[in-house]
Amino acid sequence: MKIAISGKGGVGKTTLAAGLARLYAEKGQRVIAIDADPDANLAVALGATVEQAVGCTPLSQMDDLIEERTGARPGRGGMFRLNPDVSDVVDRCAMKVGGVTLLRMGTVERGGSGCMCSEGTFLKAFMSHLLIERDEVAILDMEAGIEHLGRGTAENVDIFVVVVEPTARSVQTARAVRELATDIGVVRVVAVGNKVRDVSDEAFLRDSLGEVPLVGTIPESEAVRSADRGGRSPYGTDQVFTNALERIAKALEQEADAS
Ligand SMILES: Nc1ncnc2c1ncn2[C@@H]1O[C@H](COP(=O)(O)OP(=O)(O)O)[C@@H](O)[C@H]1O
Ligand SMILES: [Mg+2]
Repeated sequence: MKIAISGKGGVGKTTLAAGLARLYAEKGQRVIAIDADPDANLAVALGATVEQAVGCTPLSQMDDLIEERTGARPGRGGMFRLNPDVSDVVDRCAMKVGGVTLLRMGTVERGGSGCMCSEGTFLKAFMSHLLIERDEVAILDMEAGIEHLGRGTAENVDIFVVVVEPTARSVQTARAVRELATDIGVVRVVAVGNKVRDVSDEAFLRDSLGEVPLVGTIPESEAVRSADRGGRSPYGTDQVFTNALERIAKALEQEADAS
């Protein structure tokens, strides 16, 4: 199962991505978590220390490897291969945190519709390899925008989760993400409500999300908040949070089977 997680900044994408990744790993699945947000903090949310997290070099900055595989060093221009071998990238570059295999994508300076450069090509090849050739559960923690997710990649995501808070703006973003996702070929787009305080929050989400099905909700949690402040993983800090994750994981499996 390949799950992409998007939504407005601060809604809880990383919290959900880390929680699901740890949960699936605990259930004995092999899980690869991809930090695809330039503002990367998935490592700490999975349980890494800050020192360990900075040791995880983003793929986009692996200049030697990119040069070896594409024939061109990032930033230098020139001719490069469009189909670099990336089959060993997980083994060479990943970090293991909380039973989860973690990789950081990093960013590529891009103009217009995409970067015709060696590092952009390398990342794209890796994404295809991850989504098409590998059989682990893959969880992508993405930035709010999804424009960078090309059609080739988007089509291979089984389920696209938009995290929403019970606010009008966050729902607005969810609907926009759904439109974009549909445009680039994503089949299943669902919402997860986060920081939900009561039934009226949940009712608001259900009513305002329109065609985006709400597959689950996570309550506002003091334990999750304080785990974040203390630089710890939110996973396992709060039984209510774990139970919510369990229900969401199950709903996502059903959605993925249906697509
Ligand atoms: N259910 C929750 N209850 C309380 N705080 C939460 C909850 N989910 C996320 N948060 C907090 O909200 C902030 C943003 O969460 P984060 O997962 O980093 O969002 P994003 O990745 O979407 O930017 C963090 O401080 C996080 O601890
Ligand atoms: Mg985040």
